[in-house]
Amino acid sequence: MRVLVTGGTGFIGSETVLALLAAGHTPIIVDNLSNSKIAVLDRIKTIAGVRPVFYQVDCCDYDAFRNVFEKEPVDAVIHFAGLKAVGESVSKPIEYYSNNLVSSLVLLRLMKEFGVKNIVFSSSATVYGVPDRVPLSETDPVKGATNPYGETKVMIERILEDAYKADPSLNIALLRYFNPIGAHPSGLLGEDPNGIPNNLMPYVSQVAIGKLKALHVYGDDYPTPDGTGVRDYIHVCDLAEGHVATLKKLEAKPGLVVYNLGTGKGTSVLEIVKAFEEANGVKIPYVISPRRPGDVAENYANCDKAYRELGWKAKYNVTDACRDAYRFQQQNPNGIE
Ligand code: WQD
Repeated sequence: MRVLVTGGTGFIGSETVLALLAAGHTPIIVDNLSNSKIAVLDRIKTIAGVRPVFYQVDCCDYDAFRNVFEKEPVDAVIHFAGLKAVGESVSKPIEYYSNNLVSSLVLLRLMKEFGVKNIVFSSSATVYGVPDRVPLSETDPVKGATNPYGETKVMIERILEDAYKADPSLNIALLRYFNPIGAHPSGLLGEDPNGIPNNLMPYVSQVAIGKLKALHVYGDDYPTPDGTGVRDYIHVCDLAEGHVATLKKLEAKPGLVVYNLGTGKGTSVLEIVKAFEEANGVKIPYVISPRRPGDVAENYANCDKAYRELGWKAKYNVTDACRDAYRFQQQNPNGIE
């Protein structure tokens, strides 16, 4: 299939482009490079032997984005593009609501205009809010997120549900990711946040190479086995494969479908630290710090539905992800340049 990938030079987007190429699809990347580097395209070429078609376009820009649809016949869209820093979204809500919602609405208008019926949306486990119980299933209530970033995911899911009700010929997959970690095994692509990382794994990786002094563990008094936060950490390569499996599902015209993409296993902050140290033979100094506002104690997935309906499940474990993340960080101490 010819697959338009918005946000395709990002952490998950670029890994998914590799998986699309390996599966024989033709990706067309649209990205405004606001949180990624154009050098990613050369890295994709080094790994896959193909430099994907790329348009530096802001998805909010209707005219520029329309130009891509005019030039490139498209069978399906994978929509990654969006601002995604939880903390930043609390301090810049208008920017987050405007960017994430307008880009999605412009995309849906153009899909309608050009008769594109298939879309995979990059959603998040954040839409479940504070879970009543874990593991979380797709039938658990979407309680709303604890931050504007997560709220944009809730709203875009609603927009897609209403679009489907109005036009049942659409095939829409909502993929709720848990915590993506790791990097491409080559060390050429990985999580490359601007500035001090918000997320755990890139922060640990930067401590490991001495770029940051010590990890701050945000609270050790949660009702969890070792008191630290528990999450479902899924290797980004597994996540990418999940998108290829979902595209296959859309070819069967399923209408609107929802899947959790995780490992089904909860891992605590201190267990991540230990796994990282053992996988890489390094020491990760840490200090216990106060809880981070908005954090939940535990959040991990029941992924049986994705296995049942997509034939997909995670193959890599946390140790694999720690090894790949460290290799990427070592090879790119200052990020992708
Ligand atoms: C994981 C655990 C922290 C940093 C968020 C978004 C989610 C997705 C992934 C975008 C928690 C602890 C973290 C640190 C720490 N993002 N931690 N010290 O908050 O589960 O999920 O990122 O799509 O939508 O909600 O991920 O990596 O920030 O935190 O102790 O320096 O690590 O308290 O328990 P989170 P995270």
